[in-house]
Amino acid sequence: MSNILTLALSKGRIFEETLPLLKAAGIEPIDDPETSRKLILDTNQPDVRLIIVRASDVPTYVEYGGADMGIAGKDVLLEHPDAELYEPVDLKIACCKLMTAGRENDPEQNGRLKVATKFVESTRRFYAEQGKQVDIIKLYGSMELAPLVGLADLIVDVVDTGNTLRANGLIPMEHIADISSRLIVNKASMKMKHTRIQQFIDQIRQAVREQNNG
Ligand code: ATP
Ligand code: PRP
Repeated sequence: MSNILTLALSKGRIFEETLPLLKAAGIEPIDDPETSRKLILDTNQPDVRLIIVRASDVPTYVEYGGADMGIAGKDVLLEHPDAELYEPVDLKIACCKLMTAGRENDPEQNGRLKVATKFVESTRRFYAEQGKQVDIIKLYGSMELAPLVGLADLIVDVVDTGNTLRANGLIPMEHIADISSRLIVNKASMKMKHTRIQQFIDQIRQAVREQNNG
């Protein structure tokens, strides 16, 4: 195992919100993923590099050792309930809620509900805990469309301001989980690179504390 530390994260929201935390830990990427086509970004620290992957692929890279650590939304982690990972820090960034949503004045449904979502595992568990049988329709995006075109009665999606739901004539209904992004760590890396990873975890924890107190 090399001494390089590899951190997997997605571009956009998670990258932007992680930057200040990394900076507080003394780590600054040399390239900007929004303008560079590179998927491996060097940083000012010769032993730390960042890899840019799809948000939903971060747990896979970290579990199988393609990266030592990663940053992933809890919504994504909940879809991988059996993943062999450590989840040592709640970074308190990219905060939102996982919710059901539907059309405001839809009549009460008697038959089996159709629920469209990319969060199949959380949806399955949420309705199973209520003893409700539902048909889950897996989508990869634009979930808000499903109730509008009759593909589903409800959706399960992340909600922050509620603007996306409102713009599509939907309302938030039931709260499933509070979501924020987490630092995750590969189990073998944690053993083999313990001192360096523990130092990184301590620095990031401190940065999260400072960001949320000041
Ligand atoms: P993928 O590319 O794998 O489909 P994505 O498009 O959902 O992922 P992002 O939109 O960058 O990726 O979201 C990354 C994470 O940010 C999500 O997993 C979720 O935890 C959080 N998130 C998503 N939408 C919001 C939002 N509107 N406000 C705050 N946090 C959000
Ligand atoms: C996310 C998510 C919701 C929206 C919720 O989309 O898929 O549609 O945010 O946020 P709101 O309640 O503040 O409107 P995002 O803007 O990330 O676009 P994408 O996931 O389709 O890339």
